[in-house]
Amino acid sequence: MINSMALNSITITKPDDWHVHLRDGEMLKQVAGYTARQFGRAIIMPNLSTPVTTAKMAIAYRDRILHATQDYPEFEPLMTAYLTDGMDPQELVKGHAAGVFTAAKLYPANATTNSSFGVSNVNKIYPILEAMQNQGIPLLVHGEVTSPEIDIFDREAVFIEQIMQPLLKEMPELNVVFEHITTKDAADFVESQSDNIAATITVHHLQINRNDMLVGGIKPHLYCLPVAKRERHRQALRKAATSGSGKFFLGTDTAPHAVGDKESSCGCAGIFSAPHALENYLQVFEEEQAMDQFEAFASLNGPAFYGLPINLQQITLKKISQKVPKMIGQKALAISPYKADETLSWCFEPEPQSNEE
Ligand code: DOR
Ligand code: ZN
Repeated sequence: MINSMALNSITITKPDDWHVHLRDGEMLKQVAGYTARQFGRAIIMPNLSTPVTTAKMAIAYRDRILHATQDYPEFEPLMTAYLTDGMDPQELVKGHAAGVFTAAKLYPANATTNSSFGVSNVNKIYPILEAMQNQGIPLLVHGEVTSPEIDIFDREAVFIEQIMQPLLKEMPELNVVFEHITTKDAADFVESQSDNIAATITVHHLQINRNDMLVGGIKPHLYCLPVAKRERHRQALRKAATSGSGKFFLGTDTAPHAVGDKESSCGCAGIFSAPHALENYLQVFEEEQAMDQFEAFASLNGPAFYGLPINLQQITLKKISQKVPKMIGQKALAISPYKADETLSWCFEPEPQSNEE
């Protein structure tokens, strides 16, 4: 429901971010507030250097996140389990029943950052997936094949054919989020499926194509996985996000890496979009003349899919221009934020947090 909307301001139910990398240690302390400032809840990715595979690890990580977001006491991290070939289904089922795990994440082994412990063959985790289907535990999928002979720009489309379709045939009731979709193939596929299949879309995949990353010099800060694709795919994603379909929702995939790890002969994948995520998403909806669909994408579709209530608070974005800092953090922790040094046309100003319950 849109509560107030004018050309220069929009007020909506507080959004959630359904795909976030917060890291750990000093980096966690540095970045967590940016997500907690804009969002009510966030699905926390488990790909730490030692992946989050047990409920005990998830509880300890959640405590570290809550500690790092003390300035935003209303923020709620939703934890996920990192699926491995050898994981005991009971660990996940019990952790979910205890309210620790909201979902589980499938990283194909070696698909991306800290995925070397990921799943080597989906067939190996069928007992876990069956348990997830029975218990209604959502499966969050990094949907790219890793075979060296498949071109990196085709990896998502091939994943649909080789992995996703056979999986859904076997497990038609499994709740699946196809994470950070980057292709028209994935958007069309998700749209064609029943209501238990949904997708997150990042803001950068709505705003950049592969030319932005590669033409006029390589831009390591626009390198992420899945890699940005051709313009026609970006256009298809914009259409899907703004279409009003309940199958698509906000997931930034904000993924901080220190500048030195990005600007390197073998740079890491990841875009740190948390600081101005909402401003950039709203810019897309404005350009697509679909501001009236923004609340559904940002705040309603995700909770509906996960079976969670929508947030009670509201937020306002105003049409006030602002400049993105060149850099966030210092020395070894310095990060170049998405759209560094560029001017944005929207501004999010959080309300002071209430201390009452
Ligand atoms: O670009 C990405 N960065 N894609 C992922 O799948 C992982 C993420 C990270 O953790 O850095
Ligand atoms: Zn991710």
